[in-house]
Amino acid sequence: MKLTTTLMAVSALAISSTVALADGHAPLMIEDQLFVTETKAPAYLENLDEIFSGWVFRASETQSLQLDDFDNPGMIFVDKGIDLFAKVEGAEGKSCASCHDDVAEFAGLRAQMPRVVDGKLQAMEEIINNERVNKMGADPWGWNSSQMTAMTALISLQSRGMPVDVAIDGDAASFWDRGKELYYTRVGQLDMSCANCHEDNYDTMIRADHLSQGQINGFPTYRLKNAKLNSTHARFSGCMKNIRAKPYKAGSDEFKALEFYLASRGQGLSIESPSVRN
Ligand code: HEC
Ligand code: HEC
Repeated sequence: MKLTTTLMAVSALAISSTVALADGHAPLMIEDQLFVTETKAPAYLENLDEIFSGWVFRASETQSLQLDDFDNPGMIFVDKGIDLFAKVEGAEGKSCASCHDDVAEFAGLRAQMPRVVDGKLQAMEEIINNERVNKMGADPWGWNSSQMTAMTALISLQSRGMPVDVAIDGDAASFWDRGKELYYTRVGQLDMSCANCHEDNYDTMIRADHLSQGQINGFPTYRLKNAKLNSTHARFSGCMKNIRAKPYKAGSDEFKALEFYLASRGQGLSIESPSVRN
């Protein structure tokens, strides 16, 4: 019964049969650094043996934009992040740089995000807004604002090439369970879950798109479609709209749990932020 529904929904979206997964695809190498774009799936992923970065599924023209930082349009926004890091704002008359000499001190942070602090699941956007509000006396930025994505890109870049390494045990377990539940829950008029596309049908064509596993190791991502950096939550939102479901809000507990669970599905893949996707 359930299977029939999925197949119908899938055919409504014109998913075609398997196309060759970029056989022996070219390596992702940036400035002599080799990235892990394919590795063994963590044991808790019952339905996958291997995990792949979204990079693997992109056309070579899109891939090539990520091979060189001069060609990567996401880097323009990283430059904007550098300016914002040094910009004095708020009642305390401080910038990020007033207290943090070098953004490089955040190397490794992106690979561990989201994380649980004091029993709460924390996304990088929340760290940044806490810093702005509590240490600078400045207004928080919108989750998907251009300032926020520029800053998450700058901080994430410091971890580029490092393996995703999120901690999912201890008090993180309940958030992970929630994220997993959301990942497998069918929603929307098409009655589909994230898994129906990104686990059951990855490496197939859906309309003009080569379906990936929906990994988030490349976020924030520069998308050719909207010519800007996109947060994970903005991407989740787009996918939910495509299956005609009402998306959760950016920054909601649901999207944070989903982000956390997705991060755990990519353990060991290299952080690519800012990646380039279509
Ligand atoms: C008044 C000084 C001050 C300012 C201004 C400030 N920070 Fe911080 N920041 C700190 C201190 C101290 C810590 C470590 C202790 C803590 O988390 O409060 C910290 C922690 C952080 C962390 C977490 C690091 C980790 O590994 O957990 C990040 C990321 C960060 N700051 C980014 C920023 C950014 C981005 C800005 C500007 C929007 C900023 N900070 C502004 C003092 C400051
Ligand atoms: C109808 C199929 C479909 C469903 C269901 C779906 N997506 Fe997607 N998703 C896509 C397509 C198509 C793309 C663009 C090609 C790609 O990267 O897979 C995409 C891209 C993504 C990406 C970007 C991957 C990258 O490398 O940049 C993420 C993350 C993602 N989806 C997460 C989700 C989540 C979370 C859900 C469930 C809430 C979901 N998707 C549901 C079709 C779907």
